[in-house]
Amino acid sequence: MKKIIACVCITAIAAGGYLYWGNNSLTVSRYTIENVKIPKSFDGFKIVQLSDIHNKDFGGRLSEKVKELLPDIIVITGDLIDSRKTDISVAEKLIAELKSIAPIYYITGNHESRIEAYPELRAVLEKHGAAVLDGKTVDIERNGEKITVTGIDDTTFFGSAVLDESKIIFSQKLKELAENRGDGFGILLSHRPELIDIYAEHGYDLAFTGHAHGGQIRLPFVGGVLTPNQGFFPEYDAGEFKKDGLTMLVSRGLGNSLFPFRIGNRPDIVLCELKGE
Ligand SMILES: [Fe+2]
Repeated sequence: MKKIIACVCITAIAAGGYLYWGNNSLTVSRYTIENVKIPKSFDGFKIVQLSDIHNKDFGGRLSEKVKELLPDIIVITGDLIDSRKTDISVAEKLIAELKSIAPIYYITGNHESRIEAYPELRAVLEKHGAAVLDGKTVDIERNGEKITVTGIDDTTFFGSAVLDESKIIFSQKLKELAENRGDGFGILLSHRPELIDIYAEHGYDLAFTGHAHGGQIRLPFVGGVLTPNQGFFPEYDAGEFKKDGLTMLVSRGLGNSLFPFRIGNRPDIVLCELKGE
């Protein structure tokens, strides 16, 4: 009996340790994006993407890791807070640390659309100098050359999901933004990867997305198990996808929401380096 209890205890401790490590140790997914439209001055330009933090507090380790990666800009692609456990002070602490590393560009996720305190969160972001891209395009210039970064709110900010109303309005808005951004190399920040067809249709070159949490549980040789809006064994769970002229990167995200664990899916920092062809 004592042996059985000892075995159960050791297994429980090992499982707890594995879960802790799997949910708190940071990984970096590295991508190099080659495109003839990338101006010479942006060769080697580094973008760090943080997504789906869901109020997780890494106690300074996340910003330390980002600093080591020497980014030129930092993009945050939604669900910075979690609507079920909103704590704006955790988000503010992170933004205050990140702002000394590189300029921050932020878009909302579906969780921001659910919280009454979103105006407060937005004010905090703006107070620290983060650019809130809620249907805006900004130019980034180097030596007289430029690329653009366009950001759009999550579809849940655009009305009801009934009869795809929100998706239709979202697509229209993205089209207008695309028409006004010029035809240079264009980056898009948008929370959802399953809308890849819309991003490609409107001529963006590189999209940063999240939302899928890598499928929450990842199985070897299979990938992600379940994501919101894509269901079981999703196509766009993590990594790099191409459609027409578009490359879309999908972050596995950093925190958790309703399902409190990641399994085989450690928190993900995306590092993307641009390369002119
Ligand atoms: Fe999320």
